[in-house]
Amino acid sequence: MIDTFCARFGSADGMRVFRAPGRVNLIGEHTDYNLGFVLPVALNLATYVATAPAADGRLRIYSEDRREMREWSSSEISGLARARHWTDYPIGVAQQLIAAGFAIEPANLLIRSTVPEGSGLSSSAALEVSSALAFLNRRRLPPLDLARLCQRAEVHFVGMPCGIMDQYISIFGREHTAVEIDCRSLEHRDVELPAGITFLAVNTMVKHALAGSAYRERVAECAAAVEGIKPRFPLVKSLRDVTPEQFESVADLLPGVIARRARHVVTETARVGQFVEASGGGDLKRMGALMVESHRSLQQDYEVSCAELDFLVDRALGIEGILGARMTGGGFGGCTVTMLRPDAVPRFRQEIATAYEGKFGVTPAIYPCEPSAGAGEVLPA
Ligand code: GLA
Repeated sequence: MIDTFCARFGSADGMRVFRAPGRVNLIGEHTDYNLGFVLPVALNLATYVATAPAADGRLRIYSEDRREMREWSSSEISGLARARHWTDYPIGVAQQLIAAGFAIEPANLLIRSTVPEGSGLSSSAALEVSSALAFLNRRRLPPLDLARLCQRAEVHFVGMPCGIMDQYISIFGREHTAVEIDCRSLEHRDVELPAGITFLAVNTMVKHALAGSAYRERVAECAAAVEGIKPRFPLVKSLRDVTPEQFESVADLLPGVIARRARHVVTETARVGQFVEASGGGDLKRMGALMVESHRSLQQDYEVSCAELDFLVDRALGIEGILGARMTGGGFGGCTVTMLRPDAVPRFRQEIATAYEGKFGVTPAIYPCEPSAGAGEVLPA
């Protein structure tokens, strides 16, 4: 990055590099904006942002992947409108930092990422968090405030009404453990995974155009479910508050589609706790079964899966040594996450790739899910 930075900007004097990881979510999908629980793992795939001061009052951002440079006067950042461009992520974050009282200093930024874009492994949050750290450039912001600030950038500037999972895990990720996040209290605890298993993400290599609009639709449907449940249970503020028993007692009063959406969220929130419990007891079979239940619920009740994801899950379950599989992230493409015995890895890689190529004519990329550290400064160490 030092060489590229020099070639691009003439000098790397005073250069620092900040890193923020992508994530894979093990269970708890579409529960974060319903203030429920999620169980993600920070990956060793990450976005790196190098930054050094610019003497000429400009802010320049170069994306290595896109081979594209954009620049502004640092004084115009606060007035920029959304451009429907990758720079919306760093600019949205910059505007939120300005609103929080942090000036955006003139600087040159170089972005490099190993998080595959559009893969459902949270390349957006990795870009937001790494940019925020580069703009802050060692100025202090409490980690939870940083997560919320990056989420606000995505909701208000990018226009995606996401929950807090991706930004949160990118910051609070830890080596060797998954992290259970309570998306209401915004507290978390590390969840050590049992020995004798490993996780792989398998990329469908597709991102269906529906993803953004369907996400917004689901957020609205969940709000409608809350409104429909409130007359019977007035204390309910979000679907997080609804127990499976309460849900069954009101399900018939809700419009069919709304009831199915709510059933997914209510059962999925319960599944996170069950998965953590099974993990604590080393019950691999139960963990795998819960992953599959989660996928079926996303497929049939929440309707955010697609043929490619379903194929990868169904096919994985037929391979020896595979304990569980499900889609991960927002859906409509992106990745599945598969839980398997370490000795099954080579066989799984080969069989799943061959099957997927045979069916869809594309080679799926496969990534090991090694629980990794959250965001921070990586250079100088
Ligand atoms: C996307 C969003 C997250 C979360 C997941 C689904 O990744 O950014 O906030 O809602 O989808 O669990």
